Amino acid sequence: MKLCMIGTGYVGLVSGVCFSDLGNQVICVDKDLVKINKLQNGIIPIYEPGLDELVKRNIKNKRLSFSNDLKDSIKKSDIIFICVGTPTKKGGSSADLRQIYGVAKDLSKSLNKFKIIITKSTVPVTTGDEIEKILLTKNSKNKFAVVSNPEFLREGEAIRDFVYPDRIIVGSNDKKSNKILKNLYSPLIAKGAKYVNTSRRAAELIKYASNAFLATKITFINEIANLCEKTNINVDDISIGMGLDQRIGSRFLRAGPAYGGSCFPKDTKAIISTADKFKTNLSIIKSVIKSNKDRSNLLLKRIYGILNNKIKNKKISFLGVTFKANTDDMRDSSSLKMIPELSRKGAKVQYYDPTGFKEEFKNYKNVRNAKSISNCLEKSNLVIIHTEWNDFKSLDFKRLVKNKKIIIFDMRNLYSPQEMIKKNLKYFSVGRGFK
Ligand SMILES: NC(=O)c1ccc[n+]([C@@H]2O[C@H](COP(=O)([O-])OP(=O)(O)OC[C@H]3O[C@@H](n4cnc5c(N)ncnc54)[C@H](O)[C@@H]3O)[C@@H](O)[C@H]2O)c1
Repeated sequence: MKLCMIGTGYVGLVSGVCFSDLGNQVICVDKDLVKINKLQNGIIPIYEPGLDELVKRNIKNKRLSFSNDLKDSIKKSDIIFICVGTPTKKGGSSADLRQIYGVAKDLSKSLNKFKIIITKSTVPVTTGDEIEKILLTKNSKNKFAVVSNPEFLREGEAIRDFVYPDRIIVGSNDKKSNKILKNLYSPLIAKGAKYVNTSRRAAELIKYASNAFLATKITFINEIANLCEKTNINVDDISIGMGLDQRIGSRFLRAGPAYGGSCFPKDTKAIISTADKFKTNLSIIKSVIKSNKDRSNLLLKRIYGILNNKIKNKKISFLGVTFKANTDDMRDSSSLKMIPELSRKGAKVQYYDPTGFKEEFKNYKNVRNAKSISNCLEKSNLVIIHTEWNDFKSLDFKRLVKNKKIIIFDMRNLYSPQEMIKKNLKYFSVGRGFK
């Protein structure tokens, strides 16, 4: 099948490449010319394990190409996936849909024959209805079908998630489109993915409700971790004990910093904004957002406590700054709250992340990017394990930190407190007994 992915970011690039690997002819379009030039030269603009190889293979097979000519790419394709960003509106909480509607307007001018227009981007309920209205201004009803097919891949495991999804949600009542899409996804269905055909609005809401639920799970265990700290209980035991109940499940039940990333913060806010529009109070999700906001402040307070409120000139080393491991995505990472605050208080912050330098910190005083773990930890007063990269899971702190008093704040519970005490290291973690 001939596909066009509009927006070549984390979702558009990964799904476009994977669709081409399944034997489809795919054009990935982006208005960002630098990105397209890089991709045309085999340079992958994002960090995603395994993507590099897949891109090269499918360019060589001539099934995958990159373009910034939207009109031409639309004309050459039968199925159009909209994969552009839907960030939070500046100064607000609803989703900013300008990129989506901008694409819809461009599409309305380029429908030379019947096309299936699919939103893969996460969009609020009724966005599909709006796209349809825009397309109808210049086209007749039989020229297109607007379908919602939300994406559930996780950065860092995106290829696996795309190829072996738990479920594929297709929101459409159009028989012709449903048949074509079931056929497009048949290789994944054959591998065990559940295929759910539902209404367009339901598909739109399934995505938001899923993300809000996962954010709730993380926030729930983070609050339980707070209680564990006061009651001398190890939150890891609680996670195991709860997670073994199949109605609950163990995933997303690990205590740590506030949730971040490109999806949970914006999608929890957007679903509330949608509910407000429809005069519905989503009180649980509202309190999740508040609790998550409080969490970054709470962990900052713990840092101040560990350093006896003497922050000025303290060398603080961050291991990892991305919101989770195996991605270079910094969007809404909790490090974006912590590092600037520590810099303002006069700390000397150095950070090491396997995905390298981060623009986000370049204007902060006394914040520097270390080129290696050892360079980051040398002479450190406090080591903060912020992201759970494998690189940080078995470090010899005594060798790496050239300082007699080594203090570690492990926000991901990567190490055993008993082992750290045995090594004579001052060690703090999250939700594991008295501190
Ligand atoms: N990142 C994730 O893990 C993830 C997972 C599931 C769903 N989603 C959703 O998918 C959507 C895309 O997310 P992302 O992380 O890939 O975003 P992104 O910001 O990485 O990529 C979006 C791309 O769209 C391009 N773009 C914007 N307007 C365009 C236009 N008119 N024509 C061509 N290209 C245009 C941008 O230049 C950018 O490269 C969002 O709605 C997001 O919520 C993201």
